Amino acid sequence: MSRPQLAIFDGPDDLAAAAAQLVSRLAASAIDQSGQFTMALAGGSTPQRTYARLARGQADERLDWTKTWLFFGDERWVDPRDDRSNYKMVRQSLLLPAAVPKDRVFPVPTSLATVQACAQAYANTLSHFFGTASDRMPVLDFVLLGLGDDGHTASLFPGAAALNVTDTSATSSPPGTLPPSVDRVTLTFAAINAARDVVFLVSGANKATAFADVWLERATRGQRPAIGVRPAQGNVTWLVDRAAAGDIGAQL
Ligand code: 6PG
Repeated sequence: MSRPQLAIFDGPDDLAAAAAQLVSRLAASAIDQSGQFTMALAGGSTPQRTYARLARGQADERLDWTKTWLFFGDERWVDPRDDRSNYKMVRQSLLLPAAVPKDRVFPVPTSLATVQACAQAYANTLSHFFGTASDRMPVLDFVLLGLGDDGHTASLFPGAAALNVTDTSATSSPPGTLPPSVDRVTLTFAAINAARDVVFLVSGANKATAFADVWLERATRGQRPAIGVRPAQGNVTWLVDRAAAGDIGAQL
């Protein structure tokens, strides 16, 4: 892994513009090299502005929907029409406004009898799309992640058993300490760390302590799971606004 890169922006709008431009640039380069771009989307609230920009698709913030395939880094185990659903958020901010063809999107299934079955089904979907054996990791071009103020990322929560799952690309996780308190399906570290590019998008003063702990590696992976994101061959870029950067921003 090359050294993680950090860029700090004045506020959420600059952050979203930078993220949309980075996605667009990496997508163009993946398409040049392999003819396609595969991306896992983050849930939560921070990426919504980025998705809205990608949906508008202006100048250097556009994606070629004929060659882009979208996956999810994590999902809450709720109906896709539920306000807590990451799919619902992505549908409203990106898929509908950009008229993304349905066959380009691979949501996490949430209607199976157990959350474990949903995770297994998603791991199968990934293996099938990427043509990998079930114990080999798919190599996504791009994984977008958020950071919780407890240091979680995707749905990899402090102290959770999911942190130690290495033999599958997607697993289930019970609710973390932060809302919403629902079971989750999440990509594992094994899958995230197989990706070519991983980008964290972090906004807001409530993230400053967790961000500093992760950036300075002054906690364990069990305490601040985002520390476990270390792609073997890939790059990690942190796009952070000034409020979330806190003291780290002041030191640069
Ligand atoms: C989720 C997530 C999660 C999120 C962080 C940050 O489904 O909850 O994908 O990992 O990215 O909790 O969320 P915010 O952007 O809402 O602060």
